Amino acid sequence: MTARVLITGAAGFIGGHVSRAFVGRGWEVTGLDNFDPFYDRSIKEEGIADLQGAVGFRLVEGDIRDASLVRSALEGVELVLHLAARAGVRPSIEDPEGYVSVNVLGTATLLEACRETGITRMVFGSSSSVYGDDTPVPFREDAVAADPISPYAATKRAGELHCRVYCHLHGFRIAALRFFTVYGARQRPDLAIHKFTRAMCRGETIRQFGDGSSERDYTYVDDIVQGVVAAADWAMRDGAAFDIFNLGESKTVTLRYLIRLIGEMLQREPIVEIDPPAPGDVRRTCADIGKARRVLGYDPSVTIEDGIRKFVDWYQATHECSS
Ligand SMILES: NC(=O)c1ccc[n+]([C@@H]2O[C@H](COP(=O)([O-])OP(=O)(O)OC[C@H]3O[C@@H](n4cnc5c(N)ncnc54)[C@H](O)[C@@H]3O)[C@@H](O)[C@H]2O)c1
Repeated sequence: MTARVLITGAAGFIGGHVSRAFVGRGWEVTGLDNFDPFYDRSIKEEGIADLQGAVGFRLVEGDIRDASLVRSALEGVELVLHLAARAGVRPSIEDPEGYVSVNVLGTATLLEACRETGITRMVFGSSSSVYGDDTPVPFREDAVAADPISPYAATKRAGELHCRVYCHLHGFRIAALRFFTVYGARQRPDLAIHKFTRAMCRGETIRQFGDGSSERDYTYVDDIVQGVVAAADWAMRDGAAFDIFNLGESKTVTLRYLIRLIGEMLQREPIVEIDPPAPGDVRRTCADIGKARRVLGYDPSVTIEDGIRKFVDWYQATHECSS
């Protein structure tokens, strides 16, 4: 099946990987991205350099909150993959209004533009952070998820709820995907794996928040792409529906082990400074992926050891890493 898809946030870390996968499937991809200054524009440009000018890909530079621009970008589109957002837990505490503006108002603007142009199929990039600190592990999609502990998490849950409303009122078919800490080549520079690798390469100190026992379910980006593709196929089926799927590896890794693993791959001894746990960070994430397996056929396969090896290989091939 081929179709035309709008991918918001196409110049971002996950958006670039997803755009490449859909172009590879022969879909017509329109990317929409405003090159938000959260991190350097040149990183995003490099991340999609191979796509620029490729058959089947075009990039529109603009903001998802610009309703008329969004309506024109939606022309001829059958499906929207909505990945644009202000991402990151800790920075959302510094700028809650900015996060609400893009993640809630932006999502509402996009949904309304879709309604006006008759497009009812969407995949929404949500986050494991919506589970907060009180959901029993492994996290299941039917948990209430009503106790977020950061502005970012609250905006992602609000985005899901807006999607839910459009399915109920306007017959949309939307899959909300809760991504669990995604990593891989071109990972956002603010995220732990990237930051730790950069620090170790430069011989700098790593700031470890907490005693190292916090746990994350880290998901390799190729597995996320597989889940997004499966969710897109689900969204192309008949019938109004709203559903939520966890995309994780369903394995947890302690912060302490992660730092040691990166050190081993780089053959460096990490220099660690221990700071208090960061406000807004949850203690543990772990996805129950039974539903995504059953309904979407999601089948993640990259272990943390293999994934970190690939990440470190990419990092060393593209950055200075003094010996
Ligand atoms: N990376 C993760 O671990 C992770 C985990 C959970 C959820 N997510 C979600 O996945 C999506 C992609 O995350 P990412 O890590 O690739 O982040 P990213 O910052 O690399 O990508 C987001 C992209 O959205 C664009 N953008 C921001 N505001 C915009 C606006 N107003 N209009 C148009 N474009 C805008 C940015 O320029 C950026 O290119 C986000 O929705 C994020 O919340 C990511």
